[in-house]
Amino acid sequence: MLIPRAALLALISSFALGAPNYQRSDTNRPHHCTVSSSNGTADDTPAALKAFAECATDSVIIFEKDVDYNIFTPISATNLSNVEIQINGNLHLPQSIAEVQRVVNRTNRVTYSDGQHWFTFKGPNIDYKGSSDINNGWINSYGQAWWDANPVNGSGIDSRPHLMSFKTTGGSLKYFKSRKPIAWNVQVGGDDIEISHAFIDAESTGSFPFNTDGFDVTATNVRITDSVIYNGDDAIAIQSGSHNVVFERNTIGYQSHGMSIGSLGQDPQDIANVSNIHFNDVTVIDAVYAARFKSWMGGQGIAKNITWNNIRVYNVTFPIFVTQSYFNQGSSQTQLGDGQTTGRVNNASVMMEDFSWSDFTGTVNTFRPGDGSCVTDPCWYDDGLPGLNHTEAVIIECNTETSCKNFKLENIQIIPQNMKSPTAVCINATAALNPQLGFDCRNGTFVPS
Ligand SMILES: *[C@@H]1O[C@H](CO)[C@@H](O)[C@H](O)[C@H]1NC(C)=O
Ligand SMILES: *[C@@H]1O[C@H](CO)[C@@H](O)[C@H](O)[C@H]1NC(C)=O
Ligand SMILES: *[C@@H]1O[C@H](CO)[C@@H](O)[C@H](O)[C@H]1NC(C)=O
Ligand SMILES: *[C@@H]1O[C@H](CO)[C@@H](O)[C@H](O)[C@H]1NC(C)=O
Ligand SMILES: *[C@@H]1O[C@H](CO)[C@@H](O)[C@H](O)[C@H]1NC(C)=O
Ligand SMILES: *[C@@H]1O[C@H](CO)[C@@H](O)[C@H](O)[C@H]1NC(C)=O
Ligand SMILES: *[C@@H]1O[C@H](CO)[C@@H](O)[C@H](O)[C@H]1NC(C)=O
Ligand SMILES: *[C@@H]1O[C@H](CO)[C@@H](O)[C@H](O)[C@H]1NC(C)=O
Ligand SMILES: *[C@@H]1O[C@H](CO)[C@@H](O)[C@H](O)[C@H]1NC(C)=O
Ligand SMILES: *[C@@H]1O[C@H](CO)[C@@H](O)[C@H](O)[C@H]1NC(C)=O
Ligand SMILES: *[C@@H]1O[C@H](CO)[C@@H](O)[C@H](O)[C@H]1NC(C)=O
Repeated sequence: MLIPRAALLALISSFALGAPNYQRSDTNRPHHCTVSSSNGTADDTPAALKAFAECATDSVIIFEKDVDYNIFTPISATNLSNVEIQINGNLHLPQSIAEVQRVVNRTNRVTYSDGQHWFTFKGPNIDYKGSSDINNGWINSYGQAWWDANPVNGSGIDSRPHLMSFKTTGGSLKYFKSRKPIAWNVQVGGDDIEISHAFIDAESTGSFPFNTDGFDVTATNVRITDSVIYNGDDAIAIQSGSHNVVFERNTIGYQSHGMSIGSLGQDPQDIANVSNIHFNDVTVIDAVYAARFKSWMGGQGIAKNITWNNIRVYNVTFPIFVTQSYFNQGSSQTQLGDGQTTGRVNNASVMMEDFSWSDFTGTVNTFRPGDGSCVTDPCWYDDGLPGLNHTEAVIIECNTETSCKNFKLENIQIIPQNMKSPTAVCINATAALNPQLGFDCRNGTFVPS
C-alpha cells in the first residue's frame, strides 16, 4: 500500500466539497420506508426486502445513520421506479465464506450471464445515495478472507458473488463505498447514469484481491467522476454495448489493471461495439496498466472515438497498452463473457478506430513490474511479449495491418524509473492508416515525431 489510509480518507472527504449538481425534475417521492435493524443480532435482509417491496415506486428507502445492517442474503429489487436508496448507515455481508457460498450455491453458479449479485437494483430513475460521512455509507464485504483462502496460484475461490448490479435509466450512484469487496463491485447497465464520489477499497493485507473490478459498464451516457478506486483488477472496464461514457477526475491504483476498454470479442458470434469513451484527468498509482484496450482474436465489432487525456502515471508497469490478442487466465468464473479461451481461430478482429492518448506524464515501473495476479508462466500480462525491458511507455499490438486506424499519441512524457530512455513495442499500427500516430511504429526507443 502506497498511500496511507489517512491520506485516502482525506482525499475522499475533500470530494464532499465539490458535490455535483446533477438534478432531475421528476423526483417526487412521497413514500418513505425506513429499514429497521437488529443491531447485529440477526439477518436484517427481511426488513430490507420489506422496505423494497413497500417502497418500490415514487419512494425513498432509508437505511439509518450510524446503524449497522446485516445483509446476509442477497437483495434483488428489480421492480423499482423512481426510488431513492439512502445508505446512511453501514451494510455488512456475512463474514464467513461458507455462509456466502451456501447462499450462492443454493441459487445458482456465478457466471457473468446469470450472475449472482448480492444487490440487484433495476428500474427507471433509481438514485443510490451512500453517505458522505466517512464513517457511514459503507458496504463491508469481508473479502480479505476470500482473498487469503485462494490457493497459491489460484485465481479466486469458487462461488464468489458480484457485489452489485445497478441498472437504471435516468439515475445516479453517489458515494458508493465498498470496503474489501469479495470480487467484482458494480455492473452498470442502462442509460443516463451519473456516478460520483465512489470509494472502492480492495487493498489486501494478505493475498491478491482477484477480480475486484471497480465498474464494469454495459451502458450508454454514463459519467463516473470524483472517485477513488483501489483494487486488484480493472478500475473500469467498458464492455460491448457501451457508448458515450466519461471517466473523469478519478484516482485509481493499488494493484489496478487500469482504465480498460474490453475485453471485447470473447464470443466470436457477437458484434462487440463501443464508441465515444473518454478518460480524462486521472491519477494512476502502482497499477499494471493505465490506459488499456483488450480484445480477443477472432472477435468482431468496432471500438471508435476513444480518448485518454491528462493521465498521471506513477510507478505503472504498462502505461499505454493495446492488445488485440487478449486471453483471460483462470477458471470459468473469472470469464466476463462467453467464448473459447484457448485454441481460437484468428479469422477476425474487433476493429479500432479514432483512438487518442494525450498529455501523459509520470513513471514506468521498472523495479518491481507486474503484480500479484501472475499465476502462470509467463504471466498473463507478459504473454506474447518476449524480452520486456520494463522501459516500455507504449505497447501497441494490432492483430492485422488494417485493424488499427487513426491512432494519435501526443505529448507522452513517461520516464522509466531506471532513467533509461522510454521504449515502445509496436506492431501493425501502419503509417498508411495511422498518419498522425506520433511516433514510428517499431520496437525500440520511443521517439515522438
Ligand atoms: C438498535 O439500536 C438503535 C440505536 O441505539 C435503537 O434505536 C433500536 O431500537 C435498536 N434496535 C433493536 C432492534 O434493538
Ligand atoms: C411491480 O410493481 C408494480 C407496481 O409498482 C406491481 O403492480 C407489480 O406487481 C410488481 N411486480 C413484481 C414482480 O413485483
Ligand atoms: C459451494 O460450491 C463450491 C463449488 O462446488 C464448493 O467448493 C463449496 O464447498 C460449496 N460451499 C457450500 C457452503 O456449499
Ligand atoms: C456495430 O457497429 C457497426 C459499424 O458502425 C454497425 O454496422 C453495426 O450495426 C453495429 N452492431 C451492433 C450490434 O451495434
Ligand atoms: C466523440 O465522442 C465525443 C464525446 O462523447 C463526442 O462529443 C464527439 O462528437 C464524438 N465524435 C464523433 C466523431 O462522433
Ligand atoms: C510499484 O508498484 C509495485 C506493484 O504494485 C509495488 O510492488 C512497488 O512497491 C511500487 N514501488 C514504488 C516505488 O512505489
Ligand atoms: C471464425 O472462426 C470461428 C471458429 O471456426 C467461427 O465460429 C467464426 O464464425 C469465424 N468468424 C468469422 C468472422 O468468420
Ligand atoms: C506460482 O506461479 C509462479 C509464476 O508462474 C511460479 O513462479 C511459482 O513457482 C508458482 N508457485 C507455486 C506454488 O506453484
Ligand atoms: C517487437 O517486440 C515484440 C514483443 O516482445 C515481439 O513480439 C516482436 O516480435 C518484436 N518485433 C520485432 C520486429 O522485433
Ligand atoms: C530489450 O532490450 C534489448 C537490449 O537492448 C533489446 O535487444 C530488446 O529488443 C528489448 N526488448 C524489447 C521488447 O524491446
Ligand atoms: C501483422 O499483420 C499481418 C496481417 O496484416 C499478420 O499477418 C501478422 O501476423 C501481424 N503481425 C503480428 C506480429 O501480429
